Amino acid sequence: MKDDLPIVSVKNFGVEFPSGVGRFTAVNNISFDIGRGEIVAIVGESGSGKSVAALSIIQLLSKSSGAYSEGGILLNLPDRSIELSTASEAELSKIRGKHVSMIFQEPMTSLNPALSCGEQIAFFMWIYF
Ligand SMILES: Nc1ncnc2c1ncn2[C@@H]1O[C@H](COP(=O)(O)OP(=O)(O)OP(=O)(O)O)[C@@H](O)[C@H]1O
Ligand SMILES: [Mg+2]
Repeated sequence: MKDDLPIVSVKNFGVEFPSGVGRFTAVNNISFDIGRGEIVAIVGESGSGKSVAALSIIQLLSKSSGAYSEGGILLNLPDRSIELSTASEAELSKIRGKHVSMIFQEPMTSLNPALSCGEQIAFFMWIYF
């Protein structure tokens, strides 16, 4: 991978859910890049679409929600680039955990309060790398 390529490139991405009165837009046309070694924070009020956007990037929005998404999510791995929005489940399960991971919103159910965050991250890295 060229060092100047972003690790992730989200382009004109949006998510809509079916609703009684048509469609509800949860994420409206967002675009951003995450560069190598860069830390990016998405900030916004409750309900503004941060979790839906993050879940969509890793393709974890439940199919049963009827969510409809548009736009692109390009992941540039060291040896290839993958468009996550159209990747197969088989391809996604090779990427999740190894290249893209998520700590879910409710920390008491996602992290062990008896261990430090650093210890837990080190543990996951030991499993995956
Ligand atoms: N499965 C779903 N079906 C329908 N609407 C949904 C679904 N999931 C989320 N939404 C709606 O999408 C909008 C964005 O929700 P989201 O959870 O992404 O907000 P958030 O920015 O993460 O908020 P918070 O800061 O409270 O975590 C909200 O109006 C929410 O009700
Ligand atoms: Mg959230």
